[in-house]
Amino acid sequence: MSAQQPAGGTVIDQNDVGDRSGPARHLPGLHRLAWASMLANGLLIVTGGLVRLTGSGLGCPTWPRCTDASWTSTSEMGIHGAIEFGNRTLTFVLVAVATATLVWGWRVRREYPRLFALTVVLWLGIPLQAVIGGITVRTQLNPSIVGIHYLISAGLVVLAMLLVERTARAIAGRPLLTAATPTRVGLGLLAGATAALLYLGTLLTGAGPHSGDSGEIARHELNIEAMAKAHAWVAIATTLLIVVCLVLVRREAQRRPAMGRLTILLAVMLAQGALGYYQYFAGVPVLPVAIHLFGSAVIAALVAGSIERGLRG
Ligand code: HEM
Repeated sequence: MSAQQPAGGTVIDQNDVGDRSGPARHLPGLHRLAWASMLANGLLIVTGGLVRLTGSGLGCPTWPRCTDASWTSTSEMGIHGAIEFGNRTLTFVLVAVATATLVWGWRVRREYPRLFALTVVLWLGIPLQAVIGGITVRTQLNPSIVGIHYLISAGLVVLAMLLVERTARAIAGRPLLTAATPTRVGLGLLAGATAALLYLGTLLTGAGPHSGDSGEIARHELNIEAMAKAHAWVAIATTLLIVVCLVLVRREAQRRPAMGRLTILLAVMLAQGALGYYQYFAGVPVLPVAIHLFGSAVIAALVAGSIERGLRG
């Protein structure tokens, strides 16, 4: 069995991967860059959240320039300008990491076209997010756009995690497995529930007080209490699904690698849930909300890792 199905239908034997003489010698570098990509996208979720939570969303009132007269923030624009502009400049870190990942993906494109495709999509995500960030500013922090901005970043974290797992599998020469139907259904439901959970989180944020500016910013006209309940119920359902997936995966000896991911995921979900209740009843203080955002990025990554390992070994 092969670790990857390369172009042209040839099968890469795990020994070929092990000897690292061909393009496979680039896999460890690609694996490290996949981790860097995931961390960089996760970091941007947190720094983007801090822009919102410090009320700096319109610190630079336009885009792509910071103001009509300047590309950068000026000292007169104060701390909000510096925070918002600081977040914009982090884009260059993301571009550097995504470009290096793409170059390493290019080196293995013939043998591992799917890994290469992931690096292309990860790279394209950066200009896309830059433009959506610009639309966020130009629509005066429209909560739907802010939510999309977050969800795309979470999607990039997921893709980076898939690259982490798939390069690890190729390096180790682990065979691709096919999951039994109950496992596939369980993991599929987990993917859907997590997506719903993150989406509901963005709706709740869009209805809440952290608009990203101290001025009059339009908010979703939703009942916060009802939204918080829906968000919490989906969180509970997602947590139960993780337990179900653990039971399903445990029945198959080959799927043990997925158990580690699922166990950590369960622990992080429980902590995130407790934090969610705390921040709700405490009136959404800034620090717990920032940690909740970080937790959501970790959860997106762990769900992707659990599903990839559970489905394909
Ligand atoms: C356990 C899994 C959970 C995950 C993965 C999760 C994820 C999220 C996400 C992605 C957001 C949106 C962040 C943003 O757009 O900036 C959010 C917001 C929020 N979540 Fe959760 N959440 C979870 C559980 C909970 C629970 C159990 C509660 C309790 C009610 C809760 C309360 C909140 C509140 C109040 C907000 C709005 C924060 C704000 O106004 O900025 N969360 N959550």
